[in-house]
Amino acid sequence: MVGDRIHTGGGPAELNTAAAHTAGLDSAELDVAELDVAELTAGLRADYDAAADDWASGLTGPGAMYAPLARSLVAAAPVPLAGRLVLDLGAGTGVAGQAALAAGACRVVAADLSEGMLRRVRGGTPVVADAVALPFRDGRFDLVLAAFCLNHLGRVEDGLAEVRRVGAAIAASAFAPGWTHPAKEAADGAFRSFGYQPPGWYAALAPGSRAGDPEVLAQTAAAAGFTRVRVHTVSVPTGLATPADLVSWRLGMAHYAPFLRSLDPAGRTAVRRAAERAVAACIDGATGGGPLVVSMVVLTAS
Ligand SMILES: C[S@@+](CC[C@H](N)C(=O)[O-])C[C@H]1O[C@@H](n2cnc3c(N)ncnc32)[C@H](O)[C@@H]1O
Repeated sequence: MVGDRIHTGGGPAELNTAAAHTAGLDSAELDVAELDVAELTAGLRADYDAAADDWASGLTGPGAMYAPLARSLVAAAPVPLAGRLVLDLGAGTGVAGQAALAAGACRVVAADLSEGMLRRVRGGTPVVADAVALPFRDGRFDLVLAAFCLNHLGRVEDGLAEVRRVGAAIAASAFAPGWTHPAKEAADGAFRSFGYQPPGWYAALAPGSRAGDPEVLAQTAAAAGFTRVRVHTVSVPTGLATPADLVSWRLGMAHYAPFLRSLDPAGRTAVRRAAERAVAACIDGATGGGPLVVSMVVLTAS
């Protein structure tokens, strides 16, 4: 059964209404009551589906960037992996699950909203499911890995409560508050000059996510019933260094997928070249650019 087909989880695959409460945005910036939550979720899913090929392809797309982060997360797991049943939550293409299998896990279930991402999972059992309504019985997993998943949930507490219900332990990651790299802004600026606008789900959920706030994470994990809660920050080198690498990483991200789809091949080439020029200028300059090292917050609890 492992990895042979994609299972449909059956949970309400939408952000709950409360998830429309986009942490970090106050009501002056966004009237949460006006958000169509199901539409945002559908947008997120469609964009991850559309990004899956670029995400997983080559040595420099987002997959290449997230793989070392996943290995670092698994290395921090609060329980030994050998012989364990692991849930890779918000698995995407399954890099965290792969790292868990390499560390001795006996089986990995990979759960994600995006069937497109799950199609690239190797070695785990893919299940289409919503992190806040998982189709698994209580206490099913020895360990839940949530690699850059909680930051996609409007309410981190809903995700952590569900993780607590199905799992005995958790290792979760998010970008450290304030972490960035000059290539992100440079590439984004180039894309905007060609008409890129962030899709609704990204504008609503991505900015100001509390999932990387160590204090919020620790408090929320404790409130969900976890003990032995620990939050620490690690720096992880990704190996991405050249303008071409860095632009491939950015272009493969799901929130750029609708923009890329709107361009013809010549337009995509022009966008890539412009972004590579912008990134080259910033990493050659004195703005702190250079090889991509990610500052990552890791929550572990059991
Ligand atoms: C930044 S990607 C990380 C993927 C993978 N964990 C990794 O580290 O490469 C976030 C993933 O979370 C998934 N996701 C977002 N919201 C979700 C939800 N409510 N339930 C399940 N998966 C979700 C997305 O579809 C996407 O695959």
